[in-house]
Amino acid sequence: MVSIRKVPRTATATEPAAALLRGYVDVQNELARLTWSGDDYVRTPEEVLAAHDDDGLVVRLVAVDDDAPDEPAPDAVLGTGLVYMPLRDNTSWAYLGVGVRPPHRGRGLGTLLHDAATSIAREHERTTFMAETDHGAEPPEGPGAITAPTGAGRIPADDPGVRFLGSRGWQLEQTSRRSLLRLPVDPDLLERLHRESLAAAGTDYRTVGWDGPVPDAWHDAMARLFAVMSDGTPMAGIEYEQELWDTARVRRRDEEHERRGITSWTTAVQHVPTGDLVGYSVIMAIPPSTTFLHQEDTLVLPEHRGHRLGMLLKTENLRRTVAARPDAERIGTWNAEENDHMLAINIALGFRPSGCGGVFQRKLG
Ligand SMILES: CC(C)(COP(=O)(O)OP(=O)(O)OC[C@H]1O[C@@H](n2cnc3c(N)ncnc32)[C@H](O)[C@@H]1OP(=O)(O)O)[C@@H](O)C(=O)NCCC(=O)NCCS
Repeated sequence: MVSIRKVPRTATATEPAAALLRGYVDVQNELARLTWSGDDYVRTPEEVLAAHDDDGLVVRLVAVDDDAPDEPAPDAVLGTGLVYMPLRDNTSWAYLGVGVRPPHRGRGLGTLLHDAATSIAREHERTTFMAETDHGAEPPEGPGAITAPTGAGRIPADDPGVRFLGSRGWQLEQTSRRSLLRLPVDPDLLERLHRESLAAAGTDYRTVGWDGPVPDAWHDAMARLFAVMSDGTPMAGIEYEQELWDTARVRRRDEEHERRGITSWTTAVQHVPTGDLVGYSVIMAIPPSTTFLHQEDTLVLPEHRGHRLGMLLKTENLRRTVAARPDAERIGTWNAEENDHMLAINIALGFRPSGCGGVFQRKLG
């Protein structure tokens, strides 16, 4: 028989009591390598342990054989569950994740983990849930593919995760596209796109940039942008409300990044007549990988769109990042498949489709 245990919050990732955490990360890494055939999304127990802050509650679960010792070896952990619950906003919402090592699938472990995760979320009065599936490639049109209700993007119908969620009351709401940019970017292309976007932006806009934490002077401005970003991308049917951000939360975000060993490069765009920041773009290096970088948020406030500020932000931030990390080989990013404007910018820069994801929602009365 198999039982579900909660991963305890330990002081370190190396002490004996962190055995379940190490097993949790080992399962996650096995699944990440299977989907992405490489180490781009491989994590360390140290970084995972540090990935929390006071703005959300993270509960991690593992499935182990009943007779497993209290501190089992990593490979004795057979599957994982995750519940993430925001605490400042979205207090009836939770993110759920379930993963089982392939040799142990099809005997109910996923269901046990899913139900345990759901119960924990319900105990915290959560009623709207989101979960995602990852796929190394978008399937061709046809009976083997499920198209999102948005009409944009497909996921494989026979994927075990898609089938699993589909038979447990989850609805596919959206698909997301993973795109990959191989470095170095053609310097002529980058310069041309940068020059063109500078010219289109004109003298009303200028960029400001920083490495790592948000400078004190921009805390308020970035709090506003992080809030707009939180529900400002195409959300399809996903019910997620705008997050509440203030200066203290910006600081907590940066402290979390520091604990996780994240290095980041940010470019923001300032509207010169008002002095306001009206957009930003962030690239991150998340350890342990040193050659793979993550293109994270890019936002231009709706009232400032149409001036090529998105391209300006991305080209400027790419220049900053590759100057700091000349050894980087690839940048990965995720976008809603219907996010035409962002995808067009990425494609112009040389990003190419490299996998996809299904975004599912389940609502309990
Ligand atoms: C999705 C996933 C977690 C399922 O794990 P699992 O341990 O195989 O889950 P279960 O065994 O409980 O259920 C899988 C199937 O086996 C069936 N099953 C369960 N117990 C069974 C048993 N004793 N004998 C035969 N079949 C069984 C279930 O009915 C289910 O069928 P369905 O997919 O048609 O609903 C696993 O495939 C996985 O890790 N995928 C990658 C991550 C992912 O996509 N997660 C989902 C989104 S968070």
